[in-house]
Amino acid sequence: MSALVTPELEAQAIAWRRELHANPELSFHEHETARFVEERLRSLGQYELERPTPTSVVARLRGDRPGRVLALRADMDALPIDEEADVPFRSRVPGVMHACAHDGHTAMLLAAATILAERRSELAGEVRLVFQHAEELPPGGAQELVAAGVMDGVDLVVGAHLMTGYPAGQVAAQPGPLMAAADSIAIEIRGRGGHAAYPHTTVDPVVVAAHAVTALQQVVAREVDPLDNAVVSVTRVHAGIADNVIPETVQLGGTVRTFRPETRAAVREAIERVLRGVTEAHGAGYDYTFTEGYAAVVNDADAAALVAEAARREIGGEHVVEVAPIMGGEDFSAYLATVPGVFFFVGAQSVEAGPVPHHSPRFVIDESALRTGIGVLARTALDALS
Ligand code: NI
Repeated sequence: MSALVTPELEAQAIAWRRELHANPELSFHEHETARFVEERLRSLGQYELERPTPTSVVARLRGDRPGRVLALRADMDALPIDEEADVPFRSRVPGVMHACAHDGHTAMLLAAATILAERRSELAGEVRLVFQHAEELPPGGAQELVAAGVMDGVDLVVGAHLMTGYPAGQVAAQPGPLMAAADSIAIEIRGRGGHAAYPHTTVDPVVVAAHAVTALQQVVAREVDPLDNAVVSVTRVHAGIADNVIPETVQLGGTVRTFRPETRAAVREAIERVLRGVTEAHGAGYDYTFTEGYAAVVNDADAAALVAEAARREIGGEHVVEVAPIMGGEDFSAYLATVPGVFFFVGAQSVEAGPVPHHSPRFVIDESALRTGIGVLARTALDALS
């Protein structure tokens, strides 16, 4: 049920989404996708178009009267995954797949653009549509667009993500922390290699690394407030090439997820302290690099209330829910660092497929979710600029 989205527009959005799904492009390479978006926006005849970077599109729709500036953002990039989903519009590009529904986000914002163009006379101020490249690949497209001035003059920024973790038709637009800061760690444990039959003549970095991986688990378990949230996952362990050789070094890598800046800094420091202590204890050395990824997505209370109210009016209050924050990351935080705003979730779980995880080669959404997303985006813009 949606007052703003006609069955014809819904069908159009699904067709756009399928076309994008069949022709996915990787982060920073969204040339055809950007062209596709630009052509459709141009055909609406109302938008001032701009290409702030080679594969992003920004479209401005100015109302007749002065007012606030609202930015609506969709990301457009796909992932390096070979699609296994059995759908007629399956990816035609081997090794590339829309496995995070960014095809749906792009189609939803194009459809919302169609509604808003028809209702331009109702708008005071400006709607700025941001079709963003490269959400999936840090440092991400959002910070490039911020640097290019795309948020200049914006009063409020709103973005949506289709989510297979929640039933289709649900919307969550809530204040506070929603998605985690997503940082990377790279560690080298340096020992002294040698013959595996004479370990006393070596400093075995494999054993030291094993201690380090285990000890790092205590950072979250014993140092982070149980009511706060954090993750330290060691996901890469590389060492050695022969059964009878103790290697010189072990490479470790992984991810750190946090919500609060203080926790982020404390975990970063605690990892170093553990590495220093464990390696020192065993006569080894270490190198440690902590690379900051996307900051946490923390929603503004007023912006969240605006979208939640628009959602209640558009799809009914019974479909507007609260969800637990998730440890995934999003570069939408780059916009939120400059402008207040809200990132909201649109449930997109397929009844047949169930809660297929994002970034899975079998990722599939319930396309009826597009209608929900389009309606909430358009209603939010009409409400914010009425
Ligand atoms: Ni995504």
